[in-house]
Order: sequence, then structure tokens, then C-alpha cells
Amino acid sequence: MPSTLKDAAGHPPHGGSLELRLATGTELADLVAAAADLPQIEAKGRRILSDLELLAVGAVSPNRGFMTQADYAPVVGEMRLASGLPWSLPITLSATDEEIAGLDGAGRAAITHEGRPVAVIDVEDVFDYDVAGEAQLTYRTTDDKHPGVAFLYGQAPHYVGGEVTVLTNPFEGEFASYRLTPVQLRDRIAKEGWKTAVAFQTRNPIHRAHEYLTKCALEIVDGLVIHPLVGGTKGDDIPAETRMKCYEVLIEKYYPNERVVLSVFPAAMRYAGPREAIWHALLRKNYGMTHMIIGRDHAGVGDYYGSYDAQEIFEEFESGELGIWPLKFEHSFWCNLCEQMASGKTCPHGKEDRVFLSGTQVREMLTRGEEPSPHFSRPEVARILIDDARAGSGS
Ligand code: ADX
Repeated sequence: MPSTLKDAAGHPPHGGSLELRLATGTELADLVAAAADLPQIEAKGRRILSDLELLAVGAVSPNRGFMTQADYAPVVGEMRLASGLPWSLPITLSATDEEIAGLDGAGRAAITHEGRPVAVIDVEDVFDYDVAGEAQLTYRTTDDKHPGVAFLYGQAPHYVGGEVTVLTNPFEGEFASYRLTPVQLRDRIAKEGWKTAVAFQTRNPIHRAHEYLTKCALEIVDGLVIHPLVGGTKGDDIPAETRMKCYEVLIEKYYPNERVVLSVFPAAMRYAGPREAIWHALLRKNYGMTHMIIGRDHAGVGDYYGSYDAQEIFEEFESGELGIWPLKFEHSFWCNLCEQMASGKTCPHGKEDRVFLSGTQVREMLTRGEEPSPHFSRPEVARILIDDARAGSGS
């Protein structure tokens, strides 16, 4: 049954409690039976299904459903919920003219995927939105080449807001042993006895620069949660299955196992840069983390954001207001003269002495079967990437 869970560990979720929106037991059976006769709104795209999973497990607490205009407007305009609590990105369900007509004043609708109900929504609000306005404020651009903006432009014209009860999660079998919910991850952190835990969000394999950030963070906090996003990325990002193999081998060979947890983060990428950095942090707070790594161009894509915009946005909140602390890192690299990983903060040498490869360069090397320098990527990781790139390209 959906419930509200208070925190015992001293690091309360955002808003104070975890709002679990998954139906179980007799409520589930009753809702599944009732859903067949309800008006339907289709979950348009994987991202909506990922949002439903986030709602089911309480990862987006204190939100209990898709936003009504009362929350949506201040979130888009001022990064605040109607209650005044910080929140940086809208969680919305779009609906077509036909779907709105089908509601016909009904208080409840089924949210469907492939024709089957996956959730029900208690409809509180139906409203229209300014797509360009939302894009500009949340993504800082209206360019439809931006993948997050393209998703917005592809939506139906109305939003339906209201509390959601989730019936089933189509993704629960994916990486099942690594799919810890906020309740489970909080338990794990408590069992480990960690007073502080840092989240590492990533949508990439862990290369040397990523490894460096996580290990610097481990010098400061008790435990590290490698929390790769698996809920949908753009087509040219490396698939989650491949990345998981890389994380496993890396943790086994190069990390102090007892200080690291690998668990997947079921959200979809929005590529909203600074706004998404805040969103990533608030969700990780709900998963029980006290700190969050924010490096260069966090959650960015193309040239839409400045390298450190995603760090600077944290200054727009009062100290302690977010309840999770960013660990900010400058662009990191291997320096041939320092003979170690470094950043502009610690290395006095020039570009020519620093090992840097762009994402495109790395992709091209891997498809050719070439291993990038071990100063860029651990050989064990490079080999997995080469094998998977070649299997993917059919060579
Ligand atoms: S992201 O979309 O999840 O941010 P990515 O997986 O590349 O992309 O990055 C994960 C985290 O590592 C982010 O906080 C990002 O800012 C940081 N990061 C990635 N590469 C570097 C680097 N070379 N130097 C510093 N920070 C980096």
C-alpha cells in the first residue's frame, strides 16, 4: 500500500518522509480490476515509465504524483514547489485532446503502457503549458536539437496533474540485484555504519577521471555509492548493460570493496545540466546520501552549458536548504609531468602534457578496436568497451 516512511538515520528525505506510491496486496488487486474501466492516458515514452518507478519507490519525495499547475509553475519559474521546498525540474504527464476529452470530468484515470494499465492517477488538475517557456527556463535553450528539449516538443499539449498509485514497474527485472530502492539503500548505508555517503551519478563508463573524483571523495566521506543512471539515455551513450560490466570489474580490481556500493539509478537522463544537477542531488538525498559529486559539465550535452554552471547553481540555495552537499570537482585528467591524475587546481602544466580524449575520439578508437591510453581508461574497462562496441557494430 502506498505509504509515508519517516527516516531514522538522521538524514531525512526531502520534505521529511519517503512517499512510496506502489500499490500492494488487496489495494493492488482492487486497483488493477478498477483500472480496466477507467479513462486512459498513455505513458508517452520510456521517461514517463521511469518517472513512475521513481514515484513508486519514493525517489522523488515529497512529490506523490505528476505535478499540478500549483507546483509546476513555481518549479519551472523559481525551482520551488508550491510549499517553498527546493525542486528543480517538473515531473509531468502529457495528454492529448482525445485523452482529455475521454476524462470527461472523471476523478481517476489509468496510465497505460502498451495498452495495459501501469498506474492510476487521481486527477486534480488539467492545464496547458508554454513549451518554449518551459524549455528556456529548465533547459536554458529552446533548440530542439537538445535531447531534453526535443522530448518536450514531442509531448502532447496538455498536462494532467495528481497523485499517482503505481501498479507495476516494467523495469523491475533489469539489474534486479543492483536495483536498490531508497528504503533498501538507506538500510544498506545504515548497516555499513556510514555516517556520510557520497553519490556518484554517471551515464558513462568510469574512466580514470571519474575514478579520480570518486577516490578523492572517498578520502573525505565514509562510503561511496556508484549510482549509474539506467533509465534511458540518448542513442549514442554507452548502453547500461555494457557500463555495468565496466563498473563491476573496476570495483573488484581498483576500489576498497567494503567502502563502495554499486546500485542503479532508475531515472531517465534529461540532459538539463545545472537544473538536473540539483534534481540528481535531491533524488540522491532521498536514497540516503549526504554528499554528491558534481564535476565538469554535470548532466550536460553539447555546448549548451558552461563547464561549471552545474556547480554554480547550488549557490542559488541557502546553505543546508537542499540537505545534500555537492563535492565540486574541476576538470580532471592525467598529467604526464605530474605523473598522476590532477586538475587545474593541482597541476601547473599545460595542455600538451595532459591526456585528454573527447567522447567522439574514444568512441572511434573503441570501434576500431584500439585501447585508449591506460591513463585515460583502465585496460580492463577498455577491453569490455571494445568487445561490446565490436559486437554492436557487427564486426
Ligand atoms: S553525467 O551526465 O552523468 O554528468 P558523466 O557520466 O560523464 O555524465 O559524468 C559523471 C560525473 O563526473 C559528473 O559529475 C561529471 O561532471 C563528472 N565528470 C566527468 N568527467 C569529468 C572530468 N574529466 N573532470 C571532472 N569531472 C568530470
